Amino acid sequence: MKYALFEIEHFFRQHEFSAPYGISSSDCEPLTLPELLSYASPQRREQFEQLWLGYTENQGHPELRAAIAALHQGVAGDDVIEVVPEEGIFLTMNALLEAGDHVVAIAPSFQSLWEIARAKGCQLSFWRQRQTECGWHFDLDELAGLIRPDTKMLIVNFPHNPSGYLPDHADFERIVELARQHNLILFSDEIYRFSEQDPALRLPSACELYERSVVLGGLSKCFGLPGLRVGWLITPDAALSHEVQELKSYVTICASAPSEILALIGLENWQALTARAVEIVRRNIEHCRAFFGRYAGLFWVRYPQSGTVTLVELRADRSVDDFAAAAVADQGVTILPASVMLFEGNYFRLGLGRRGLPQALEPLEQVISDHLL
Ligand SMILES: Cc1ncc(COP(=O)(O)O)c(C=O)c1O
Repeated sequence: MKYALFEIEHFFRQHEFSAPYGISSSDCEPLTLPELLSYASPQRREQFEQLWLGYTENQGHPELRAAIAALHQGVAGDDVIEVVPEEGIFLTMNALLEAGDHVVAIAPSFQSLWEIARAKGCQLSFWRQRQTECGWHFDLDELAGLIRPDTKMLIVNFPHNPSGYLPDHADFERIVELARQHNLILFSDEIYRFSEQDPALRLPSACELYERSVVLGGLSKCFGLPGLRVGWLITPDAALSHEVQELKSYVTICASAPSEILALIGLENWQALTARAVEIVRRNIEHCRAFFGRYAGLFWVRYPQSGTVTLVELRADRSVDDFAAAAVADQGVTILPASVMLFEGNYFRLGLGRRGLPQALEPLEQVISDHLL
């Protein structure tokens, strides 16, 4: 089995720690360790400082699994497997898919959501986003048309990376209903859940609705804790859970002990952490409206109601790839073009979660004036 280059990770490896500015990150301003510890109860702080650095439990710390379960309705700690978020995708696809299986995957999407299935020899159909003047859209009739009698898994990701798209409750229930009608495994990547600007928009987790769902969540995005490398898989199906957990012994075996306690501190304060992220995104949206508004006609942007990213279309006689290359070379501004996310069109991803976005847009003005005006 040969995996194709993970384009987005390869791209960020080249620029993330060398270019001074970035406007395409998908995470929200990460907390510092002292900031996170300032939220800790005296008991947790003591637990962190006195921590025994042995191996941890394969399924994850029981208290941490209980805290993760508490974010969902009707979920018990035993339904949760702690994973590194990316590992959760790797384990699920490898444990549950075989060559020849038919899989329907949302597109564009985080590459591993479909690349692992492709590398395993699965047949892939893509449920593609559509651009409308109002914003991004996924058509449910189109999804229904992609499902075949032999389809094994449906892979979705809402709030969506890279568009920020979030279906309404009725549409999400229809997606779940389609999975149920065809007895599909529904892999629901919910890593951007809790970033909704209005909590009423928050969808139920697929694991609350459907017994054959496998849900991915984690602390990397709107919890501001990507460096902890803590995420989770939740499935109500004990047989699926068993297969995934067995495979974990071939990958990380168990989580990092300090990260588990820090993750507990984060989850015990999840409302404060996610509110902080939502506020940063809200301010950045205001700033971007003014910034891109100054170049009417040159950029097409629709600001999302959830998630931390959106897509911007460059409506110019110049490719986004050239624009992005000029931005990093001339001004040290990293911009992620659509081509790296393996979809067509003159788009780039705008990351709305970092506090430094307004400062990163300043040097971009020069690139715009030198290369686009
Ligand atoms: C949709 C989606 N799923 C999963 C992941 C993996 O998260 P992590 O990089 O923290 O492992 C990402 C990261 O960007 C993502 O965008």
